Amino acid sequence: MACKRGALIVLEGVDKAGKTTQCKKLVQALQQSGRPAEMMRFPDRTTTIGQLISAYLEKKSELEDHTVHLLFSANRWEMVPSMKKKLEQGITLVVDRYAFSGAAFTSAKPGFCLDWCKKPDVGLPKPDLVMFLQLSPSEAALRGQFGEERYETSVFQRAVQHKFELLMKDPSVNWQVIDASQNIEGVHDNIMDHSLNAINTAQNQLLGELWK
Ligand code: TMP
Repeated sequence: MACKRGALIVLEGVDKAGKTTQCKKLVQALQQSGRPAEMMRFPDRTTTIGQLISAYLEKKSELEDHTVHLLFSANRWEMVPSMKKKLEQGITLVVDRYAFSGAAFTSAKPGFCLDWCKKPDVGLPKPDLVMFLQLSPSEAALRGQFGEERYETSVFQRAVQHKFELLMKDPSVNWQVIDASQNIEGVHDNIMDHSLNAINTAQNQLLGELWK
């Protein structure tokens, strides 16, 4: 019998919510419990496309807004063959940001509608679970200054949060909101519970296509 597929699990949230810390903890906990798991992140800055994105985020280069949006999407599509292969091998993928960040960040810019922003990512592997780490702007501010990269301002992050709220109204995606104001272990326990459920359910389901 073919082995059971892994689950595609995504963590999203505004800056300072603790996504990267929680992705690492989740992968470690899954591995320790004997479940094969790997972490991925978008943008993946290691590829040729990812390097163009990275230079843009670090403000070392300028790119036209539509162009960079399509590059972020291309950076996901270029990883699809390896993602599908790993999932088929029974490896659960824990992904730090995905198409939801793509749509939320670009549509927070003037002149972009959410619908256009979602289009390039239609048909990507559909996550079995998307956890949104919820943190109020005032709590985020207590966690320190924003960095130097593009988009790291509180005004822009508020606009992004609003776009995420619109995306979360879509019942075709398995959204779970996680209270990220708890301590690291509390947040982790919550994330682990949802992830174990998703892994069990995904085993018996085909991988879906996002926003299709
Ligand atoms: P990072 O800080 O998690 O590496 O993310 C880099 C920045 O890129 C962050 O501000 C969110 C933004 N972003 C987009 O604008 N579009 C996307 O598709 C993704 C994945 C991230």
